[in-house]
Amino acid sequence: MAKLLIVANLKSYKNENEAKNWLENFKKINDLSLDSAQKEVIVCPSFTQLFSFFSYFSSNNINSAALGAQNVSPFDEGAYTGEVNAKQIKDFANYVLIGHSERRKNFSETQDLLVRKVDMALKYGLNPIFLIQGKETPIPEGVKIVAYEPIFAIGTGNPDTPESAEMTAAAIKANRGYLTVLYGGSVKSVNVKSFTEQPSIDGVLVGGASLDAEELLKIIQNA
Ligand code: PGA
Repeated sequence: MAKLLIVANLKSYKNENEAKNWLENFKKINDLSLDSAQKEVIVCPSFTQLFSFFSYFSSNNINSAALGAQNVSPFDEGAYTGEVNAKQIKDFANYVLIGHSERRKNFSETQDLLVRKVDMALKYGLNPIFLIQGKETPIPEGVKIVAYEPIFAIGTGNPDTPESAEMTAAAIKANRGYLTVLYGGSVKSVNVKSFTEQPSIDGVLVGGASLDAEELLKIIQNA
């Protein structure tokens, strides 16, 4: 079986102090003795915390988790006040979330814009994790990891059924050849296995449940 990817999206929640507490609990990931050939964990904090997560991971020998950003500028470095570009992110992270439905909806991100973000990520060696809301959502060239997150399932406690998620994941793979396909939307420690045991689902993207580091560790264990 291919390795499972478990991605934690901490969204726009924690300040520095709360993030430090989260890290103190997350550190117990080192006790799980994860086999990196079987499970890969990616944590996506806010931009303001990427550096402290990066430092904390290295000073606490957290080698079984990588870092991702939650967004990236569609522009290269330059006079774009307020933007954080792919070259800057690459100093701390190897992944970036692009195309989350919260960004499509609240920030009017269009497919054209998302393609530009993917291109910038690829230019600087960041792996895009591209979020799609259904099997019809277009996937930009160069993307290797997608996360299927139906809107009704995000933050609602009402996940898709594993069978329906499996059908969607299988359809995406049939359309696009080999891709890593994750499921996201109300994943918790009690339901994660029902998704990861599906043959076409290669992992999960976890939002709300990952805000509690202990619950995230349970999700990683149960996946
Ligand atoms: P959720 O969010 O796990 O809270 O449903 C998933 C996401 O938005 O990525």
